[in-house]
Amino acid sequence: MQNGMPLRPNKNEEPDHLALVYAQFPLDVTHGQGVYLFTSDGRKILDLYGGHAVAALGYGHPRWVEALTTQAKSMAFQTNAVPMDVRARAATKLAKFCGLGLDTVFFVNSGAEANENAIKIALRMTEAPEVVAVEGSFHGRTAAAGAVTWGAKDKWYGFPNTPFNVKFLPRGDLKALNEMITDQTGAVIVEPVQGVAGALDLPQEYLEALRLRCSENGSILIFDEVQCGLGRTGYPFAANMYGVAPDIITTAKALGAGFPVSAVLMANHVAGSIKMDSLGTTFGGGPMACALVEAVIDIIESEDLLKNVRDRSAQIRRQCMVGPVVGVQGAGLLLGLRTRRPAKEVQTELTKRNVLVGTSADPNIVRILAPFILGSEHVDQLRDALVAIG
Ligand SMILES: Cc1ncc(COP(=O)(O)O)c(C=O)c1O
Repeated sequence: MQNGMPLRPNKNEEPDHLALVYAQFPLDVTHGQGVYLFTSDGRKILDLYGGHAVAALGYGHPRWVEALTTQAKSMAFQTNAVPMDVRARAATKLAKFCGLGLDTVFFVNSGAEANENAIKIALRMTEAPEVVAVEGSFHGRTAAAGAVTWGAKDKWYGFPNTPFNVKFLPRGDLKALNEMITDQTGAVIVEPVQGVAGALDLPQEYLEALRLRCSENGSILIFDEVQCGLGRTGYPFAANMYGVAPDIITTAKALGAGFPVSAVLMANHVAGSIKMDSLGTTFGGGPMACALVEAVIDIIESEDLLKNVRDRSAQIRRQCMVGPVVGVQGAGLLLGLRTRRPAKEVQTELTKRNVLVGTSADPNIVRILAPFILGSEHVDQLRDALVAIG
């Protein structure tokens, strides 16, 4: 995802060897601590964007650092070919945290990779040729994930053929949903709260109707909770918040809170369809990643961070309808502030006032992806900055 910010000038005036494919914030960040980023010119910036929603525990959380260093000293890496307690513990912890009967976990590395695997599992299981996605979706930049991402073909690349047939459902349209999901549909993939689209929480009845239609039809319902999962809505998963259990959940970002890891969580009937050797990964399920999954969930539970996410979210809704903000959408700390001015302008002005926020595909939505450790004083800081920019 790009943020529409100008490219950072090369301060060393040396040739830059990085591919210039990312717009970058005009900040020279040296380090982070708690909810703040620090820059080389002495600024202290409230980070409400968290590296595309990854920094769920902010920066330098002592228990996260401890888990990382302890595991690194003991064993930094082994593949799935070697059974490891830490991997088994992480899978149990994640399945229990979810608590929706999605009791089998396959660890991989990124959001897109989790979605690739989820789609593969579903199509193989159902032997149907088509995947249905929802308008506005973002599922990643790999082949299958890109094929079900709204507008990907025009925006990034035009593979001549998608790997399977794809249909996009209009958001919230129950009639279309019932007509478009057919016996050809192997999988339906949906972000219950659409992140890149602008922190848009889909209506409850829409997700319930998707569940019902998939069950009637034998299609596998996949919730892509790469961005909205693992506590970000103030519930373990958005599925818990909505009370709708899909057949598969994919999750990433907050899962390692800075260590790259993703997971595919599967219900028993899905897990039962997987054959030995049908899925694989070299790095996925490595001990460092698993140690951090275990630690992140531990921290969320023991520090009561789900409640904090819900409280801070409610506080933002109460206090931040000020300055350029005319509405709030989303859930937990995945919020979209609707702005009467272009969101990019608001983002630039907030950055100047040391508050970092994201934008989205909606030109009038400022996206908040704050760490779960956010305090009420930080919400006050956001409100004051919004008031100041008017
Ligand atoms: C909902 C959703 N799915 C998938 C992805 C892709 O994840 P990754 O960039 O880790 O491949 C993203 C990334 O922003 C996302 O927000």
